[in-house]
Amino acid sequence: MFALARRALLALDPEHAHKLTLRGLTFGESVGLGTLFQPKLAALPTDCLGLHFPNPVGLAAGFDKNADAVDALAKLGFGFIEVGTVTPKPQAGNPKPRIFRVPEALAVINRLGFNNAGLPGLLRNLERTRFTGVLGINIGKNKDTDNADAVNDYLQCLHAVYARASYVTVNISSPNTQGLRALQGKQALQALISELKDAQLKLGAQHAKHTPLLLKIAPDLSEAELDDIAQVINDVRIEGVIATNTTIARDGISNSPLAGQQGGLSGAPLRVSATRILAAMRQRLHSDVTLVGTGGICSGADAQEKIQAGASLVQFYTGMIYRGPVLIAECVDVIAATRMQSKSSSVRAST
Ligand code: FNR
Repeated sequence: MFALARRALLALDPEHAHKLTLRGLTFGESVGLGTLFQPKLAALPTDCLGLHFPNPVGLAAGFDKNADAVDALAKLGFGFIEVGTVTPKPQAGNPKPRIFRVPEALAVINRLGFNNAGLPGLLRNLERTRFTGVLGINIGKNKDTDNADAVNDYLQCLHAVYARASYVTVNISSPNTQGLRALQGKQALQALISELKDAQLKLGAQHAKHTPLLLKIAPDLSEAELDDIAQVINDVRIEGVIATNTTIARDGISNSPLAGQQGGLSGAPLRVSATRILAAMRQRLHSDVTLVGTGGICSGADAQEKIQAGASLVQFYTGMIYRGPVLIAECVDVIAATRMQSKSSSVRAST
């Protein structure tokens, strides 16, 4: 069923296909077809960030920016779902067309520019959602907010979503909002993360609930930039890092006529650099900082590669476009099989 739907959707304009996917899933779930979506998954419970995940395979941010289809997406078997990026005010994003598929490379270029319904839209949708699993909420700044005032946008978002989110992701790595990635620079990051940490502590006391903070970083960072980011995270002590967002590089698609399109590249060509950044952060961060591996997961082996490089959790977006929800079970199976193997070899080694 999903394979047929995917073939039809891939023939449509990417943004239109995406809207139809979210609507189709939501409609199916609302008329009681949700159980048809539910796959049989290997048991792979995972505890990290002070949270319990039924499995470590999640949906990456951007797929359901406004939390329109959380209940339906949860039925597909994801161990966690990240919605957003949400900005304080609604905004339209960049002019269309702004999503381009590069199917021969299992890749996508997007320059959406945080098109979203804003905090009021997201919160309204979440009120209707019955999902009780792990829900990440990814927050950003509005396009018309100067970087000097960006902290206010992030604080406003954190206050608004703190109670509902299982964790909050601070997105400073989208290439499609001008100047956003400059917030990854040491001074700006130190100021932003320190303010958010203070707010997290206050909100934690107010709501009697601890909501972990994760930072989502770009794959296009130098060694020196990675050193700076790791130092800030180790000093301020936020709970996790998501590596990575989309890339501005065009490795792996340089022969495509779409290579010149502006925007962030995701999918298979991103995998190697995203895993490199993940491993580099694992080396630099304190062991209690959780890593989420994202970028180019198109098979179970790709997901296991992220775990091997130091991730406790993985996420994908582009893999959903080309492989569909079957990729969830494939990732869970490969990670579960590898976990079993390493358990039995450690038992053998100790006997
Ligand atoms: C994204 N991604 C993204 N990330 C984010 O933090 N906020 C967002 O709003 C979006 N929006 C978005 C739209 C589209 C069309 C794509 C393809 C991607 C990035 C996404 O979450 C992920 O980090 C990267 O795409 C890398 O993972 P994949 O796609 O290679 O599995």
